[in-house]
Amino acid sequence: MKFKERVFSGMQPTGSLHLGNYLGAMLKWIDLQKTHECIYCVVDLHAITVWQDPGELRNAIRQVTAAYIAAGLDPEKSILFNQSQVSAHAELAWVFNCVARLGWLNRMTQFKEKAGKDRENASVGLYAYPNLMAADILAYRATHVPVGDDQKQHLELARDIAQKFNNDFADSIRAAGYEDGQFFPQPEPVIVGPATRVMSLRDGSRKMSKSEPSDLSRINLTDDDDTIAKKIRKAKTDTEALPSEIEGLAGRAEADNLVGIYAALAGSQKADVLSEFGGRQFSEFKPALADLCVSRLGPIAHEARRLMADPAEIDRVLVDGANRARGIAEPILGEVKDVIGLIRAPS
Ligand code: TRP
Repeated sequence: MKFKERVFSGMQPTGSLHLGNYLGAMLKWIDLQKTHECIYCVVDLHAITVWQDPGELRNAIRQVTAAYIAAGLDPEKSILFNQSQVSAHAELAWVFNCVARLGWLNRMTQFKEKAGKDRENASVGLYAYPNLMAADILAYRATHVPVGDDQKQHLELARDIAQKFNNDFADSIRAAGYEDGQFFPQPEPVIVGPATRVMSLRDGSRKMSKSEPSDLSRINLTDDDDTIAKKIRKAKTDTEALPSEIEGLAGRAEADNLVGIYAALAGSQKADVLSEFGGRQFSEFKPALADLCVSRLGPIAHEARRLMADPAEIDRVLVDGANRARGIAEPILGEVKDVIGLIRAPS
């Protein structure tokens, strides 16, 4: 079967999105809308693999939805919804719990990191997390999955699950009319490039992250103009002027990061930024960067706040997205049930 090109990705519902999320994932997702059918999912079922305060979770689901819409995700053109509203995700995840092998999941490095030393006390859901992620993708037969580096291993697992399903049920799949035996596609990563890896403003060797204690380390999409300007003013740098050539950034992680942020926000390249600012001090570069940041992020923060003022409208968007998502996922899940020999009501 020739699979139709379709993009699927998921974002965790955390209330606090930052510049790293924006330049890393959001811009790519927004861009893909121009060329592909896109399905974007707020993965609330993944979120509860670790404890979530119910009120905060509800708020975070709306926040992240509002932020993506404010940044340019068009919920009419693309499908935007929260995972728990489409039961096909959880149902297919159960099937995949029975396809994936313990040995495969035991190799997942993210589980080891997240569970830490207290493995015995981690939820079963945290362990099975990659199977649910595979279900997210394959419930839509998605072919392209924009993800960061840290999700590459999970995506490989999704490919392995797709392949094992195709093999295990090969006869049944052919009998169902799939002459080439391909029931699920092999989803490909669309890796969000290293050029857009945004590092902490306090330590150029660490990724910008919502879990770093100092709020000065990141620019949140909800920061107001003064806060953005202050954080850039306080960003760690060295004392040299900016180099004129890109090689001059070697060994200067903080300078490299700020130049990279400028380039990404301006839609240009680091070399372009250096040809403009090479030889100048940070005291000149930082205000220019702050202005650019404010001009790009300010309108997004403003629009997200406006959307958050009407939560019922956000919920309507999610319900509409879920209805459209179900329209794609339910027929596929129905065929999965047929292929594995379950009995279902005729559709
Ligand atoms: N695990 C992903 C993350 O933490 C989120 C996610 C869930 C996802 N399901 C997905 C990403 C499906 C891509 C496709 O970032």
